[in-house]
Amino acid sequence: MLKAKVPREFVAKDGRKVVLRKPRWEDLDDLLDFINSLVEESADIMRETPVTTKEEAEWLERRLASIAKGETIGVVAEVDGKVVGNSEVGRRGGSMSHVGGLGIAVKKGYRGIGIGKELMKTLIGESRKAGLKVLVLDVFGSNTVAKSLYSKMGFKDAGRIPRGVFKKGKYIDLLRMTLEL
Ligand SMILES: CC(C)(COP(=O)(O)OP(=O)(O)OC[C@H]1O[C@@H](n2cnc3c(N)ncnc32)[C@H](O)[C@@H]1OP(=O)(O)O)[C@@H](O)C(=O)NCCC(=O)NCCS
Repeated sequence: MLKAKVPREFVAKDGRKVVLRKPRWEDLDDLLDFINSLVEESADIMRETPVTTKEEAEWLERRLASIAKGETIGVVAEVDGKVVGNSEVGRRGGSMSHVGGLGIAVKKGYRGIGIGKELMKTLIGESRKAGLKVLVLDVFGSNTVAKSLYSKMGFKDAGRIPRGVFKKGKYIDLLRMTLEL
């Protein structure tokens, strides 16, 4: 069972208090605003079109159920009562049930102050405790900030899909990175 040991708090590099905790149903509006802010800034994520309230509600319902079943570790970052970061490790199935797929994003205006690093540390620590052996993630080859964060956390390059992503009118390589726990 994957059970994240949150909540916990830390002070960000700019002095703001950050709470790391599990997502809850009341986060729906914040999470909708969060994902759509990423879409609007054309961040290096797969989603290209705005998410509707219905889609987000369905996604959150599935996510909370998966967390309750211990199949997903979900951690959000909250600043001043608002969700400004979202991250997860989802356990794969069958003969890959020792492998977790990791995803993370921090809202514009809250980046570069250590939230991504703390979310990563939390996810890695809880994945290890849950008995996962390997973490995998995909990152756009152009996303130097994310690649730097993942390398600092110990992730190694595991492969490249040339032109795996088409974004803003350009093909970009998609990189896979892995961490053995
Ligand atoms: C990638 C992302 C999650 C990093 O989160 P963050 O909170 O900004 O990261 P942190 O402040 O904890 O910084 C972690 C490391 O990232 C790198 N980094 C952060 N900001 C950087 C910048 N402006 N330039 C270069 N590297 C930077 C540094 O290596 C930093 O480590 P350091 O503090 O030791 O210097 C965030 O930028 C983000 O959400 N981007 C948009 C969505 C996205 O790209 N998600 C990842 C998809 S694979």
